[in-house]
Amino acid sequence: MSRSTAYVFSALLAIALTACSQEAAPPASNTADHNAHKLDQRKKLHLTGEQRHHVLTEMRQMLASTQGVIAGIADDDMAAVAAAAKLSGPKAKTTIDMQMRDVLPDEFRPMGKAIHMEFGQMAELASTGTSKEQITAKMANAMNLCVACHNTYQIELVE
Ligand code: HEC
Repeated sequence: MSRSTAYVFSALLAIALTACSQEAAPPASNTADHNAHKLDQRKKLHLTGEQRHHVLTEMRQMLASTQGVIAGIADDDMAAVAAAAKLSGPKAKTTIDMQMRDVLPDEFRPMGKAIHMEFGQMAELASTGTSKEQITAKMANAMNLCVACHNTYQIELVE
C-alpha cells in the first residue's frame, strides 16, 4: 500500500468508525443524564418539568430562609429571623405540598410538612423572645430533615 493510499484508507476507516459510534451512542446529554442516574441510587420522584420547577422553587426559598435565619442570629436581629423563617412556614406562598398531594410519595410528604412546621415555629419563637441559642439549636435540628430527605430522594423528569 502506497503512503497516500494508506492515508486515504485510514481516513475512511476513521469516518466509518465515527459514523458507527454516532449511530450506536444516544445523544450526549441523554448519556450524561443516564450515567448520573445510574450512579445515584436515591429513590426517584417522577415529576414533570412544571412539578420539578415547583419543588425546586420551594427548595431555593428554604435555602434563602435558612440563610436569613442564620444571618439574623449573627446580627442579633430577631425580627429578621422571624421574617426569614416565615417565608418557609406552612402558610408561605411557595409551599406546594397541597398542589402536589397526588404526585409525591406518602413517605415524602410528612417530611416536607415537618420542615415547614419547623420554620413556622422558628418564626413564632423569634417573635416571642426566645434566645438565639435556642433558635440556633432548633435550626440545627430542623436541618436534619433537609439532610434526611436529600439522602433519600432525587427527581427524575417524566413527560
Ligand atoms: C421532603 C424532602 C425534602 C426536604 C425536607 C428538603 N428538601 Fe431540598 N430537595 C429535595 C429534593 C427531592 C431535591 C431535588 C434533588 C435532586 O433531584 O437531586 C431538593 C433540592 C434542593 C435544592 C436544589 C434547588 C435547585 O434549584 O436545584 C436546594 C437548594 C434544597 N433542596 C434546599 C433544601 C433546604 C435548605 C432544606 C431544609 C431547610 C431542604 N431542601 C429540605 C427534597 C427535600
